[in-house]
Amino acid sequence: MASLLTSYHFLYLFFFFPHLSASSVTHLCSHHEATALIHFKNSFSIIKTEFTSFLCDDIAGLKSYPKTNSWKKGTDCCSWDGVTCDHLNAHVIALDLSCCWLYGNFPSNSTLFLLPYIQKLNLAYNDFNYSKMPFEFGQLTRLVYLNISETLFAGKVPSQISHLSKLVSLDLSHNVFFDQLTLDKNILEGLVHNLTEVRHLFLDRIIMPSINPNVFMNLSSSIKSLSLGGCDLQGKFPSNILHSPNLNLLNLGYNRNLSLDLLKFNQSGNLEHLDLSWMSFFTKLIDSIDNLHDLKYLDLSHSNLRGSISRSLGNLLQLTYLDLSWNQLSGQVPLSILNLTQLQHLIIAENSLEGPIPDEVAAFPNLMSLDLSNNLLNGKLPSWLYTASSLTEIYLSQNQFSGHIKEFQSKSLEMIVLGNNKLQGPLPSSIFQFLNLTWLLLYSNNLSGVIEFSMFSNLPNLEYLDLSLNSLSLSSNNVSQFSPFLKGSKKLKALDLSNNRIEGKIPQWLQEVTCDSLSYLNLSHNSLTEVEQLPWKNINILDLSSNLIHGNLPIPSSTINVFLISNNSLGGKISSLICNVSALQVLDLSHNKLIGTIPQCFGNLSNNLEFLNLKKNKFYGMILPTFAKGCQLSYLNLNGNQFEGPLSPSILNCRSLEVLDLGNNKINDTFPHWLGSLPRLQVLVLKSNQMHGSLHDHSSKSSPCFSKIQIFDLSSNYFSGPLPGRYINSFKAIINLTKDASTMTYMGVQDVNGSGGFYSYSIGIVMKGQDIALNKIFVMWAIIDLSNNKFDGEIPKVIGKLRSLKGLNLSHNNLNGYIPTSIGSLTNLEWLDLSSNKLVGRIPRELLNLTALSMLNLSTNELVGCIPQGKQFNTFGNTSYEGNKGLHGFPLSSDCNNNELPPPSNLSEEGGSKSNIDFGWKVVLLGYGCGVVLGLGVGYVVFQTGKPMTGNRSNGGRRI
Ligand SMILES: *[C@@H]1O[C@H](CO)[C@@H](O)[C@H](O)[C@H]1NC(C)=O
Ligand SMILES: *[C@@H]1O[C@H](CO)[C@@H](O)[C@H](O)[C@H]1NC(C)=O
Ligand SMILES: *[C@@H]1O[C@H](CO)[C@@H](O)[C@H](O)[C@H]1NC(C)=O
Ligand SMILES: *[C@@H]1O[C@H](CO)[C@@H](O)[C@H](O)[C@H]1NC(C)=O
Repeated sequence: MASLLTSYHFLYLFFFFPHLSASSVTHLCSHHEATALIHFKNSFSIIKTEFTSFLCDDIAGLKSYPKTNSWKKGTDCCSWDGVTCDHLNAHVIALDLSCCWLYGNFPSNSTLFLLPYIQKLNLAYNDFNYSKMPFEFGQLTRLVYLNISETLFAGKVPSQISHLSKLVSLDLSHNVFFDQLTLDKNILEGLVHNLTEVRHLFLDRIIMPSINPNVFMNLSSSIKSLSLGGCDLQGKFPSNILHSPNLNLLNLGYNRNLSLDLLKFNQSGNLEHLDLSWMSFFTKLIDSIDNLHDLKYLDLSHSNLRGSISRSLGNLLQLTYLDLSWNQLSGQVPLSILNLTQLQHLIIAENSLEGPIPDEVAAFPNLMSLDLSNNLLNGKLPSWLYTASSLTEIYLSQNQFSGHIKEFQSKSLEMIVLGNNKLQGPLPSSIFQFLNLTWLLLYSNNLSGVIEFSMFSNLPNLEYLDLSLNSLSLSSNNVSQFSPFLKGSKKLKALDLSNNRIEGKIPQWLQEVTCDSLSYLNLSHNSLTEVEQLPWKNINILDLSSNLIHGNLPIPSSTINVFLISNNSLGGKISSLICNVSALQVLDLSHNKLIGTIPQCFGNLSNNLEFLNLKKNKFYGMILPTFAKGCQLSYLNLNGNQFEGPLSPSILNCRSLEVLDLGNNKINDTFPHWLGSLPRLQVLVLKSNQMHGSLHDHSSKSSPCFSKIQIFDLSSNYFSGPLPGRYINSFKAIINLTKDASTMTYMGVQDVNGSGGFYSYSIGIVMKGQDIALNKIFVMWAIIDLSNNKFDGEIPKVIGKLRSLKGLNLSHNNLNGYIPTSIGSLTNLEWLDLSSNKLVGRIPRELLNLTALSMLNLSTNELVGCIPQGKQFNTFGNTSYEGNKGLHGFPLSSDCNNNELPPPSNLSEEGGSKSNIDFGWKVVLLGYGCGVVLGLGVGYVVFQTGKPMTGNRSNGGRRI
């Protein structure tokens, strides 16, 4: 987008001032002017900065070079590059120094201002290093053309600019590095008032605070170009300008708070370039736009357009650029689009278009880029895609295209992004001839066949290759065949071959890709069996999970941030060499057969390590050594090993710890109550160990205690004594879960190393009696499981405060007394299991308030009376109540007869505290199989990479 706009400016430059590029040699310029020019040149460094080369060469597609190198003392300045003199007096009348490597602060006493006859001045695309724009520009009153766009001037536009009353064209726009220049209200007013001759006004991305858009009403009706993109204008734009008969270019894009009255374009308009993207209006604009027969450039992206694309769009026969992306367009793409044979850029991504794309042989012969990604389009890829000979970019990901990919004719292809469709068959062989191919992203299709990696040898520019989630096999041909690939692909940064059928060893060629460039490699979900070494020197993210890899843990390069090798068959001990990999942030070794103790040095690793998953291995001994000060761990999962503990209090050094899962080990210890002071702990799982003792806490009542906890699972241990009322009272997060579910849906860490990566926490938990592996933990979840212990006494009333609780399991303990009526306040509760205790009395009617409840188990207690009727209670079956001899009513077969019951007041909890005399301290050791499934789910890390995206490309936040 930016590139198109800026090159458009240049078109203007050469269109109106064709002589700018040619210099006159007939007269000699004055000594005075020559000296001024030399001084001017010398006041700058002549350097190709990143800024200028990016803007001129990459974005604008112009060739930057140091024009002033041809300026020599003693020669005629009229012959110098970029200088134009008038024929009569040999005065310098025009200076074109755009894109010529000027670098440095622009001096306010610049000798440029000593060129009194200058009429045309172009300084665009130089780097003035955020210096102030001198007010002396206002002295050059003969100027008819002034272009100081993209020059890194900063600060205020001086008011003297409005003295340049002869200006026909003024360009102060900054599209790339913006937010530097501001234009005050009164200066803009002066400018509009004084510049009566102005025909071309470009003020893009200049900050204009509190400007009333009506000020532009006073612009001359002969205005031809008006470009105010991204000026943060507010209110309504005056419509008279839109009807100016001469208006040729209008850009009001990216003024999110600017609106327009309903537009009616009339037939006589001359508009060629129209950008109304990112504005706040809602209109059927697209209907009258077909009157603009001369329109070449149309950008209505992000404009709240709804409904289907009007057929009349097909009348805009001159269109070369069409962007309707990020709207709510639905229906099919109209056939009439095939009329637009001049189209070079067709962009309708991020809508809800459906059906096939209109097809006709050789329909868009000039097409260079096509982006229809993220729609509901289906059918085959259109045939014109294969015939367009200048095509460089294809983005059709996130649709439902099917069929084979055929051979492309365009040799210029750079981006082929077809991920997330239903394409089948082999890769077309023409792909392997595209010298400039940079992205090849074909993930998540049904592509099949054998990939011969030698074929990639012709793709020296390949940076991102993603063939994951297909049915491709790797050719296992002899090694030497692959080496050309290695030579060729010096630029490969990301390679994703996950979810395919790659078997055996990591192929030698890939091991030899010492490709210093490779920073992301994903070979997960294949059938690899062997990895001897990991030779990639600059790797950041390596995913080898879910293969069949055996042998010892391979040690990656010390640059690695994310190393995932879970779900394999690694065995043996972990080498302490792993501790040299000091940049590690995420390490997942879960679901392997690793044995031994954890190396001592692990404690220091935690200075960078945020995420450590050792779940389901065969580690034993102490639970990790000492955690060093500054420990960064936020997720520690040691579930399913044979650790004996105890947990060292040094874990309190990990102040960011959010998830601690020590379940299914052999820890024989009392409850580590000091964990309560970890300020961010949200998930604590200690289930299925040999932990014992009371949870009675001696610490002072005022100290914060598990205040962020949301999942608290102590099930299947030998804890005894009363339920921990003091903790329950301090579970602030469950009492009032205020998190906004929409901003962050899962618990986890985002943006590993800024790579756009994302991984979420996982644990195993019992939900509604089912053993569930949570690959992602919803931020809103709150679960307490204290089942299968030896807790006794009553259920504390305070439990009713845990209003955000979703699941409560207190089954298989020795709890007695009444079910507190306060449980009726837990209106978010989805499952409640109080079974196999010694609870007495009636089921409180208040439980009818639990409208979210879908699983209730009160079986095997000593409850009596009528089962409450109605609401959720109509949905529970016998099993919820069996083993309570005194219960009656639906769904049990025994009828409920209220007369048989004692008055309810006797059985309410208010009188309850006395009644626990009836129930002694008889310890009932409960077996592990009484309808309670032990939760040791198979949780694993979900590591979902952001598909490669570059910020440098002008396609900005494209979703691919
Ligand atoms: C401009 O001012 C600077 C100091 O502010 C001085 O060093 C320089 O010589 C002046 N240049 C001219 C051309 O007067
Ligand atoms: C208009 O330009 C003249 C000189 O050309 C100047 O004196 C005057 O101040 C300008 N007016 C405004 C409002 O800037
Ligand atoms: C554009 O296409 C439609 C349908 O394909 C056709 O009816 C119409 O005549 C075409 N318009 C022009 C101006 O060619
Ligand atoms: C590849 O890119 C280079 C540099 O941009 C260009 O000169 C060349 O023409 C391109 N090759 C093809 C086949 O388009």
